Amino acid sequence: ATSIPADDRVPDMGKRQLMNLLLLGAIALPSGGMLLPYTYFFFRGAGGGTVAKDALGNDVIAEEWLKNHGPGDRTLTQGLKGDPTYLVVENDRTLATYGINAVCTHLGCVVPWNTAENKFICPCHGSQYNNQGRVVRGPAPLSLALAHADIDDGKVVFVPWVETDFRTGENPWWS
Ligand code: FES
Repeated sequence: ATSIPADDRVPDMGKRQLMNLLLLGAIALPSGGMLLPYTYFFFRGAGGGTVAKDALGNDVIAEEWLKNHGPGDRTLTQGLKGDPTYLVVENDRTLATYGINAVCTHLGCVVPWNTAENKFICPCHGSQYNNQGRVVRGPAPLSLALAHADIDDGKVVFVPWVETDFRTGENPWWS
């Protein structure tokens, strides 16, 4: 999503590897002929949103997800524009109404969740974000982007977040 200088390829690697993985999962399961109808169906059905996909490329069913992901869990899914996006399980075992875009606002590495530290910590240059993706240590200049995580017909649907960033009280830098 962000432009990365050609001579600085390392930060891009994490994202590329992850997306290859997600992509692999997405095309490995359904046969080629099935892909197009699915795509049409979900783009129309979701009203501008995008159905979250798990690491295998399957739609994320909220109820199923919550059976396998406990309180505090933050796990990557494929979100808007294919961006790796964390689904958050709240302490009361419900899905958070927001997803956290995992692309580091410094140079675009995918930022892993660190359960022990209760933070997202970027492996590339050490930026840190709290458990809602708000930046708490640079060099990242901005918090991780948000998306709405709605539930539509049992499926998790990401919808662009254009409202105030509830973590900072500021307008979203990403929209
Ligand atoms: Fe530099 Fe994340 S890409 S700290």
